[in-house]
Amino acid sequence: METAILRDTMHTLSDTHAPEGEAAPMTAKIEARQTNVHYGDKHALKDVSLDIREGEVTSFIGPSGCGKSTFLRCLNRMNDTIDGCRVSGTVMMDGEDIYDPKIDVVQLRARVGMVFQKPNPFPKSIYDNIAYGPRIHGLAANKDELDEIVLTSLEKAGLLAEVKDRMEAPGTGLSGGQQQRLCIARAIAVSPEVILMDEPCSALDPIATAKIEELIDELRENFTIVIVTHSMQQAARVSQRTAFFHLGELIEVGDTEQIFTNPKHKLTQGYITGRFG
Ligand SMILES: Nc1ncnc2c1ncn2[C@@H]1O[C@H](COP(=O)(O)OP(=O)(O)OP(=O)(O)O)[C@@H](O)[C@H]1O
Ligand SMILES: [Mg+2]
Repeated sequence: METAILRDTMHTLSDTHAPEGEAAPMTAKIEARQTNVHYGDKHALKDVSLDIREGEVTSFIGPSGCGKSTFLRCLNRMNDTIDGCRVSGTVMMDGEDIYDPKIDVVQLRARVGMVFQKPNPFPKSIYDNIAYGPRIHGLAANKDELDEIVLTSLEKAGLLAEVKDRMEAPGTGLSGGQQQRLCIARAIAVSPEVILMDEPCSALDPIATAKIEELIDELRENFTIVIVTHSMQQAARVSQRTAFFHLGELIEVGDTEQIFTNPKHKLTQGYITGRFG
């Protein structure tokens, strides 16, 4: 394990965050309680209760099929789109039940954006990929404002320098890593509060991956981020909190350093030391 990286992370953490304890509790952006998911008869997620802290990166780790993506999709109701999928329990964001029937799901997904494993730009120009969300949500009063949103989003996603001379070229013509940054820019463009990323680097080479990891670290200044990853090095590098799942259950959650250096549960220990998964 990359202890130097972990120590650096911890150092930064202790500089910028109050220590845990009754005196200074971290603000939870999202609170999931007793969350269960069934796909037909399959009980895929079992009584998961977890806080996602504001302004931090939380990573979800665990063996394939343990429910990471399923739980991630509970946080912006993407499971609503899957036939036969039932979610129970409560998920609160800023103290509001996101499963309340009066919640506008389109609005919710603008507040809680998502980036997928495979970059999926729309078959449109680079400009229109980013402008799409702000247009449907009416975020710009005129063309100048829309231009501004597009440029700022590309800048924040670390892509502007590479695409500023070809904004009308198709998004699908970019490299894989650029496409993923385009998708991140597209998510940012509607000013979300939370960004969910499901294995955002698994289709990328190490250089493109390093860029996305750097970006995640910058983005946490403005957004709350949840990332699913199969790479424990990546979880250690980018996240402050780590949650370990196994067979649909949340086994352990804690500060990333604690999970990787001193896990409390033997299943976590088995996973991080590569004994299974
Ligand atoms: N649409 C679906 N229909 C039926 N079962 C599903 C569906 N999606 C997931 N499952 C099942 O739910 C369980 C959890 O799946 P999930 O995709 O959340 O796991 P994961 O931890 O994200 O795995 P991976 O690391 O392979 O992406 C698995 O047993 C899976 O087969
Ligand atoms: Mg998954």
